[in-house]
Amino acid sequence: MQYGFFDDDAKEYVITRPDTPYPWINYLGCEEFFSLFSNTSGGYCFCRDARMLRLTRYRYNNVPADSGGRYFYLRDNNDVWTPSWMPMKSKLDRYECRHGMGYSKISSCRNGLAFKQVSFVPLGDNCEIHKVTLTNESGSEKNIDMFSFIEFCLWNANDDMTNFQRNFSIGEVEIEGSRIYHKTEYRERRNHYAVWSVNAPAAGFDTDRQTFLGLYNGFDSPQTPFSGKANNSVASGWAPIGSHHIKVKLAPNESKTFVFTLGFCENPQDQKWEKPGIINKTPANKLLEKYNTAEAADKALAELNAYWKNLLGKFTVDASSLSRPDDIKMARMAGVWNQYQCMVTFNMSRSASYFESGIGRGMGFRDSNQDLLGFVHLVPERARSRILDIAATQFPDGSAYHQYQPLTKRGNNEIGSGFNDDPLWLICGVAAYIKETGDYSILDEKVPFDNDEKLADTLFIHLKRSFDFTVTHKGPHGLPLIGRADWNDCLNLNCFSATPGESFQTTANFESGVAESVLIAAIFAFVGPDYAEICRRTNRADEAVYAEKEIKTMTDAINLHGWDGDWFVRAYDAYGKKIGGKECDDGKIFIESNGFAVMAGIGVDDGRAVKALDSVKEHLDSKYGIVLLQPAYKNYHLELGEVSSYPPGYKENAGIFCHNNPWVTIAETMLGRGKRAFETYAKICPAYREDDSDLRRLEPYVYAQMVAGKDAPRFGEAKNSWLTGTAAWTFVSISQYILGVRPVFDGLLIDPCIPSDMKGFTVTRHFRGSDYHITADNSAGAEKGIKSITVDGKAHQGNVLPVFNDGKIHKITVIMGAH
Ligand code: BGC
Ligand code: NOJ
Repeated sequence: MQYGFFDDDAKEYVITRPDTPYPWINYLGCEEFFSLFSNTSGGYCFCRDARMLRLTRYRYNNVPADSGGRYFYLRDNNDVWTPSWMPMKSKLDRYECRHGMGYSKISSCRNGLAFKQVSFVPLGDNCEIHKVTLTNESGSEKNIDMFSFIEFCLWNANDDMTNFQRNFSIGEVEIEGSRIYHKTEYRERRNHYAVWSVNAPAAGFDTDRQTFLGLYNGFDSPQTPFSGKANNSVASGWAPIGSHHIKVKLAPNESKTFVFTLGFCENPQDQKWEKPGIINKTPANKLLEKYNTAEAADKALAELNAYWKNLLGKFTVDASSLSRPDDIKMARMAGVWNQYQCMVTFNMSRSASYFESGIGRGMGFRDSNQDLLGFVHLVPERARSRILDIAATQFPDGSAYHQYQPLTKRGNNEIGSGFNDDPLWLICGVAAYIKETGDYSILDEKVPFDNDEKLADTLFIHLKRSFDFTVTHKGPHGLPLIGRADWNDCLNLNCFSATPGESFQTTANFESGVAESVLIAAIFAFVGPDYAEICRRTNRADEAVYAEKEIKTMTDAINLHGWDGDWFVRAYDAYGKKIGGKECDDGKIFIESNGFAVMAGIGVDDGRAVKALDSVKEHLDSKYGIVLLQPAYKNYHLELGEVSSYPPGYKENAGIFCHNNPWVTIAETMLGRGKRAFETYAKICPAYREDDSDLRRLEPYVYAQMVAGKDAPRFGEAKNSWLTGTAAWTFVSISQYILGVRPVFDGLLIDPCIPSDMKGFTVTRHFRGSDYHITADNSAGAEKGIKSITVDGKAHQGNVLPVFNDGKIHKITVIMGAH
């Protein structure tokens, strides 16, 4: 069943009933201030860092799901209801939620009172805006009491959830007219406060949660809206909230609009106070004056719309150019939602979602480099500085902190390091950046090692250390040592953890000097040639020769010890035993090494690549995507770690771990198998499962990290939407390898690999200062191969389009078929 539909013209997903199978959310904010916003107005917001600067409280894993948000209680002639459905689960005569690019709109109606909420984070300011309009659709006058409600978080979200002996005594607020200030800890070491305001006179307010709700009441039965009158409570300790009471008189057909603003304000240390104990409100005044009218809010929303229109204009797919009806799903994902999700991963990394608490994980070294592949074409300058931030957390020996904190940009000691794939992803990210922009100057930037300026060296040297780290850390088969784990965080071959509850990610890890990863070897063989190429192009010919020799050595090792007869081996454990080989009882075959080895071109010439991908299809494929391994581990294995800790079919233990499905997609295009490539793409693409939402449960407009695999009782159910490397890799697979528009060092390579019954397509691609309007004609029914290309009407040799950098639109016509 469907719970909504795509409005492609508006770039919105329209949710038509509030009781979605899971909260379906959107992200507001694209600079410093971010909000999670569900289809029932649930969620929370923060400035810069989801853990340290949280404005509103959110309880995870809550009952009922998704309670807590920005709520409006309406009292209409003794009938109290919540127009966003939650938290009262009010019966609504009408309901719709539109999630758009950086904004969401909820509209509903009950007993002739219509409600509309438009929520967004404006560009340039640190605040959430909620423009609320009430309309009287009934025939008689209405006298409405509206109560706003938010619950403040005491800033440090981790402390807020745990340190009650302190927290219950520190909450402080200030109230001035319709402005409610949350100033907990401002008296001491904080220079910032929050303000929750409305651009209309308030009849009253509440700032103490217990007074507003009643101690034993939930958000669904707050006593104040039922009583019809605010208490003017001033929080002192306990749980500060912000609630306005607004009286609204509406004649029939009359509408009134209110602009609610939740802002984050900072003062310089020496200007904190207006007078003793009274905060300096200058920044709040400035902010609130700016958004004081509905027109001002509309203008800010229009600016935000223009920002997204421009951004998503960098790569578009023309749906009308597609011959097969279902391909519209690909068009809306590749052209809009997939890229939108990539921007969200740029902003959030893995910190704040409805599956990530925002207090646990920082920015991953590996994750951030891969995320870059999905947004470098959208925000190349920001990708550049992201690369420099990431590289600064690398150690002098080339290894890296596994994570860093966005606020401090420093490596995270609690998580440590030792994931031996990490260094190589830096090469992958930098190569993608250079191919996109042609900007080699980034290589000369001086970047600290271990965040220590004294250890700074050029970014090029960082790449060399990355490359050399793999070269110098090999095991008995000449394959890279795995360390704590590789891309698969759960393949913990050196941990031997027997203590319940111990984190596999941080527990003691000894270096056996034996456990090796075929995946790291394949990643090396895939990114190594880009490193060599970068060396050549920057007059480092000797280094290029050295790199090519090492790539050859690594490829030989894969050929010798990484091939199992019908597929690629996955790893060797600390005893030197195969993982992902026929002799294994469980875990005979894994997806990762097969996808990546073929991506690296291994076995393409001698038939092994075909065999490997056929084996993947035979053993790992399912209706909903390719599972990570088979057979699933039935028991916990000390020598394997977390991968064997999950029940069969979930997560890394044979779940459909969507992140690496596109590796197989890309690999299939390298073999020219367009039909199969597209099939692997579509299976995990959420838009293709829109009418299967009761099973899939998560948003049909974003990828999830995992879909339960065929061994799981809930086969087909998705978990962990939004913050996943799946976003970047699927975008790479569809845009660069299936539609085949791929930045390379010298220009834009055109190399589509599509199903033969796809008659062609049109995409536009912004690239190094020009727009390429590319129309591919596949009336020949090919899967791969180009017969001819014309550029602006003239025949073009080869399939790399030149760099024009002239701010113009260039018309490219591609005829597929045998050359
Ligand atoms: C998950 C992995 C994740 C890791 C991060 C594990 O429990 O299964 O997917 O990468 O935690 O800490
Ligand atoms: C999620 C992590 O964020 C990512 O770094 C890792 O590669 C995958 N899980 C697989 O374990």
